[in-house]
Amino acid sequence: MNFPAIITDKKMKRALSDEQIADFVRGAADGSVPDYQLAALLMAIRLNGMDARETTTLTLEMAKSGDMLHPDVGGIPVDKHSTGGVGDTTTLVLVPLCAACGAKIAKMSGRGLGHTGGTVDKMESIGMKTDLPEEDFLRQIREIGCAVTGQSAELAPADKTLYALRDTTSTVDSLPLIASSIMSKKLASGAQGIVLDVKVGSGAIMPTYEGSLELARAMVEIGTRAGRHVSALLTGMDEPLGSHVGNRLEVKEAIDILRGESAGPLLTVSLRLGAQLLIASGIADTPEAGEALLEKALADGSGLEKLRQMIAAQGGDASVCDHPEVLAEAPVVRDVAAPCAGYIAHMDTAKLGYASQELGAGRKRKTDAIDPRVGFIMRCRVGDHLAAGAPLCTVYAAKEADFEKAQAMILDAITLSDTPAEKEKLLYALVTAEGVKTL
Ligand code: URA
Ligand code: CA
Repeated sequence: MNFPAIITDKKMKRALSDEQIADFVRGAADGSVPDYQLAALLMAIRLNGMDARETTTLTLEMAKSGDMLHPDVGGIPVDKHSTGGVGDTTTLVLVPLCAACGAKIAKMSGRGLGHTGGTVDKMESIGMKTDLPEEDFLRQIREIGCAVTGQSAELAPADKTLYALRDTTSTVDSLPLIASSIMSKKLASGAQGIVLDVKVGSGAIMPTYEGSLELARAMVEIGTRAGRHVSALLTGMDEPLGSHVGNRLEVKEAIDILRGESAGPLLTVSLRLGAQLLIASGIADTPEAGEALLEKALADGSGLEKLRQMIAAQGGDASVCDHPEVLAEAPVVRDVAAPCAGYIAHMDTAKLGYASQELGAGRKRKTDAIDPRVGFIMRCRVGDHLAAGAPLCTVYAAKEADFEKAQAMILDAITLSDTPAEKEKLLYALVTAEGVKTL
């Protein structure tokens, strides 16, 4: 293999052959190509793109770089994946609700990355195990209908290498790299039904609607060609989805929702995505029918009961479902006040995500430990009118100095205006094999 020639071809905007792409992926998976060459090619791909054939080849090669699972879960294995958000706890809401409706959710989740949170970190924040051996993972799904685990070393190892490099070389925001990263893992995990939550807005990997739509269409096409049932929802990330940001705080919000004590955009998006999972599972025929089933599992408490079972099965303390208030405790709990009266006109959601990372809810380096207690609860949404001094959010910090730093970042991220501001859009479009439906 002549790796410099592969880099040169992409640098010169030439399409790579299937063989060149296979060499690239093998080199990433087995460590035979040094990081600096991989990083150079990643940047060339980020700058010059890939066509549909190249992207599909890259995805399939990455999926094949490790184990390809055919999980026996006693039904159709389905999975949901988000491109990443802030205050985005849909997994912990919709997985139990869908399992309560009879779906078999075999979910592979990730850790927080950059400004975005990750389900694995949230689960670990309440003592749950997230490195389930394959046997236990499958048995748990057969027994209670759902399990959520981290990505094993054997699954799409090329993605592990490439993702870590992308995070540190400014090459995350690339359509072919995101599509292949997400879809390779889903194809390798054996999910037959795949529901994608593609975020749009200031906290999304692809901030523009056009970029997100193109990404969604590419992923739906790759999955459909691989014989899977795939749908993608484009949803808003122009402000945190839920009000709670930070690991234990987000678990608390999911529990509050399943207890029927909280609602709002996080529940709305969870129901929409969950309905797509029920359709992929063959349990519902239409989004409306799916949402009705999920609403029932919410109202009769069977969703909360599923979460209890899942927490216990994965070694956590399920009593948090009865006392969620214990998940909102930190040494310093203080409000950030609005500096003047006005309408909330805009939130830089990525900046809010970085504020939570600064508090210790996310990592700056791969080896950093997470503080499960810290984060913040938003007290406003875009479009709200606040009086001067009213709380913008309540910060949960480990120490006073952390609060001060986060406060400055939060004030910088939120724009107040004298003139009324419109609410942010939450639901943009549904992409399926049949086409795009604007919502
Ligand atoms: N999530 C992933 O797993 N990969 C990406 O590239 C982006 C989001
Ligand atoms: Ca806006």
